[in-house]
Amino acid sequence: MTATIIDGNAVAAKVQDQIAAGVEKMKAEHGIVPGLATVLVGEDPASAQYVRMKQRRCAKVGIQSFGHVLPADATQEEVEKLVADLNANPEVHGILVQLPLPGHLDEERVLNLISLNKDVDGFHPVNIGRLAMKGREPTFVPCTPYGAMVLLEEAGAEFSGAEAVVLGRSNIVGLPAAMLLIHRNATVTVCHSRTKDLPAVCRRADILIAAVGRAEMVKADWVKPGAYVIDVGSNQVADPGSEKGYKWVGDVDFDEVKEVAGAITPSPGGVGPMTITMLLKNTLRGAELALAEKA
Ligand code: GUN
Repeated sequence: MTATIIDGNAVAAKVQDQIAAGVEKMKAEHGIVPGLATVLVGEDPASAQYVRMKQRRCAKVGIQSFGHVLPADATQEEVEKLVADLNANPEVHGILVQLPLPGHLDEERVLNLISLNKDVDGFHPVNIGRLAMKGREPTFVPCTPYGAMVLLEEAGAEFSGAEAVVLGRSNIVGLPAAMLLIHRNATVTVCHSRTKDLPAVCRRADILIAAVGRAEMVKADWVKPGAYVIDVGSNQVADPGSEKGYKWVGDVDFDEVKEVAGAITPSPGGVGPMTITMLLKNTLRGAELALAEKA
């Protein structure tokens, strides 16, 4: 069997068209231009590149972006002062503090300070807490797992009663992905570096989400025939034959696993484009919340 390939670029383009229409309506009917503030502390090239991509995508759907860059040795007080200013700025409907922050800064205190109604990353402890609790709804859902869930829905996955396995327990992806699956009534197992017999646990999964950051770790014999496989990984590996000398691969051995899975995301071209898309969607939602507050 060859799996259906879940095309993240196509789904992202469709959702971005809807967002652009929502932004246009917000401008025309209420004179409000949704705005995203990005905060980058230091000069990590990968983080700077992510932030640039986010800003470019904002422009494409008509969202304003306000880029703030602080030096790598910025103090806790300086970062907190910037977040407080952005909280108070009515043109800003979403605040994104790019993680990881330099080691001397207290990430939890910074995230805790972001206004709940501007927490477009969904990393505020209250939003994460609501995500964890039955019968509660977070104001915002973290973008990468949110995008993974949209891809699963688009591919026709059934969540209720499904065995779901999440590989990885990071705050940004694995943990919130597990909580979203629980909300949808899946039976969820979260695997990590101490999990025994990982292949056997993964083979139970009707839905497998790989978010461990290990190049092509998930092999064909880890996957139940017909399973939905979402590859969140993005790993740079040597590729001596190519011009650049490297290439990007996911956490899943795509060529092998596509012969077993029922549906699979490629990487690149799967979850990646959805992360930024959900950030745009959350920013539009932030603008809608601001509008509702004014009413
Ligand atoms: N670093 C890696 N992924 C993310 C993300 O989704 N949001 C933020 N703020 N930082 C990140």
